Amino acid sequence: MSTASAPGKIILFGEHAVVYGRPALAVPVTQVQATVTVEAGAEPGVWLEAPDIDLHCFLSAIPADHPLAAAVYHVVAALGVSLPEALKIRIHSTIPVASGLGSGAAVSVALIRALSAFLGQPLPDERVSALAYEVEKIHHGTPSGIDNTVITYARPVYFVKGRPIETFHAGQPFSLVIADTGIPAPTREAVGDVRKLWEAHPEECEKIFDEIGQIADLARQKITSGEWQALGELMDRNHLLLRQLTVSCPALDRLVQAARQAGALGAKLSGGGRGGNMIALIDKENAPAVTEALKSAGARRTIVTQVGEITAG
Ligand code: MEV
Repeated sequence: MSTASAPGKIILFGEHAVVYGRPALAVPVTQVQATVTVEAGAEPGVWLEAPDIDLHCFLSAIPADHPLAAAVYHVVAALGVSLPEALKIRIHSTIPVASGLGSGAAVSVALIRALSAFLGQPLPDERVSALAYEVEKIHHGTPSGIDNTVITYARPVYFVKGRPIETFHAGQPFSLVIADTGIPAPTREAVGDVRKLWEAHPEECEKIFDEIGQIADLARQKITSGEWQALGELMDRNHLLLRQLTVSCPALDRLVQAARQAGALGAKLSGGGRGGNMIALIDKENAPAVTEALKSAGARRTIVTQVGEITAG
């Protein structure tokens, strides 16, 4: 039997612009996890058990481009092996689906790790991330690769598409409240709409992407030096630019405003937008007030998370 887990993730700065080569910052959210167990099956075939999405069937019953099937086929192709006669794959996740917390990428990463280990050839992080990226294309169309990267390495990452992974350090740990609108985030649609906007208005969009990229670079410096007030202001500005890219929505704007009014240092949507999650930067002692305000403004779920684990790299 082989088991692997992967955390959720949250994008701090740079979503959408990252698809167009600008830098972005993302951190793992370890309070939520996807876990996959692979073991020998009792009957012939590959049995998939994913109670969270009410999926209980043989692999042969779902299309080859279903993300779970694709993850399995990518692993066997990468290892150059065939699937054992009888296999059971159990998938469980506490990461809310379609909320911008990377549930799809986390399931892929956990599955790729558990299956490759079960088949006797555990894949290194770089390969795990690359295979999860292939599955991300099914979820998101033209993903940047940030989700599979931050989830595979489970560290704060400064990400630029196509460049080797860089981690970043916080001068001191800082706290975020993550609040869910309860509206499923249509990431694929939002990414597609930004592409249409960029095709129709390339100059304006490039300018916005440039500014978002500069914000991500500045934010990395402010995180390193512990300038939280300035970091909050960068969040506010990043949210405004994401609104200009048409990826906010009234529910996200309401939560962002409520967090600021309750004393957050800054707030923005996080991930694909049009639903899903927003984040607010807080002083730790402010967490109850901001969380309460977010709930009153309609948040379905809130998570308080600490960023700032010191990592090598
Ligand atoms: C989704 O978590 C982040 C986006 O920037 C898309 C991507 O980077 O693939 C919206």
